Amino acid sequence: MTSSSELRSAVVVLGASRGIGRAIARVAARERNIIVLVARSPEELAAAATEVETAGGEAFTIALDLLASDASSRLEAFLTANGLTCGVLVNSAGYGLRGAATSLPADDQLGIIDLNIRALADMTLRFLPGMVARRSGGVLNLGSVAGFTPGPYMAFYYASKSFVRSFSAALHEEVRGFGVTVTCVAPGPVSTDFLEKSGANRAALFKVLPKLDADYVAERAWRGFKSGRRLVVPGISAKLTAFIATVLPTAAAVRLIGRVQRRSRDPRPHGSGSGIS
Ligand SMILES: NC(=O)c1ccc[n+]([C@@H]2O[C@H](COP(=O)([O-])OP(=O)(O)OC[C@H]3O[C@@H](n4cnc5c(N)ncnc54)[C@H](OP(=O)(O)O)[C@@H]3O)[C@@H](O)[C@H]2O)c1
Repeated sequence: MTSSSELRSAVVVLGASRGIGRAIARVAARERNIIVLVARSPEELAAAATEVETAGGEAFTIALDLLASDASSRLEAFLTANGLTCGVLVNSAGYGLRGAATSLPADDQLGIIDLNIRALADMTLRFLPGMVARRSGGVLNLGSVAGFTPGPYMAFYYASKSFVRSFSAALHEEVRGFGVTVTCVAPGPVSTDFLEKSGANRAALFKVLPKLDADYVAERAWRGFKSGRRLVVPGISAKLTAFIATVLPTAAAVRLIGRVQRRSRDPRPHGSGSGIS
């Protein structure tokens, strides 16, 4: 059996088959790290592994549904079987849904809690204690500017990202004295499959906000994490959005966001004016 001192430290990226997670894997690979790529799609993971190797890293892949209740124990067993330990955890797997909470399928909305909150917290609890014991490494969590305010017509998504921001900030404080970093990166819209799949890009808000490139977000996120930052908000427009969301009274923020995220087909009380399409 391999003793824990013989295990090689890896950067474990959850949600590494596409988008921001895959971009962070490429950035981390440039420092010749071992990268463990985790998601459900084996073909996309294989393509991501090739990118990691090209960038100078050593890649391992595991196809895993993070919604499975034993996902974190299976991941840990995979790492141990390959002589690895989780030195850095990147929680990038996540999804959102645009629409009225009363109309969207309940199971799909509850899945947002299961993935964006429960799986992220479960993985963090599985690997953070080892980092603290070794006094190195950390966790990089994908939040969002959506985490700065409640978000009508994307209620579950905004609430889940609020959890990520709060949870990350609290853990950052708990572990920073041990040489361990917990960073939350909170981007605005990023050009990935997320915008189409969530339906967010059909809302007026996402049509007007500028979209960042996943590589840019990954660079900022990784650099911020490496310098021990609690929060990274990449780009001017996301910083401005986060600032406005923080200073605006909640009553005004929810009305504004409700207006720009609502579409005409969403349910509306009798006697109200027409909506935004
Ligand atoms: N794009 C944006 O505008 C934006 C803005 C702010 C924050 N974010 C956040 O950034 C993170 C990454 O988003 P993205 O834009 O990169 O999204 P994306 O392109 O849709 O990628 C999502 C990743 O999560 C993985 N995933 C989803 N469900 C999974 C499951 N059940 N088990 C395992 N893996 C799963 C997907 O892989 P498989 O499908 O292969 O499993 C994929 O690798 C998310 O947390 C998102 O909320 C995104």
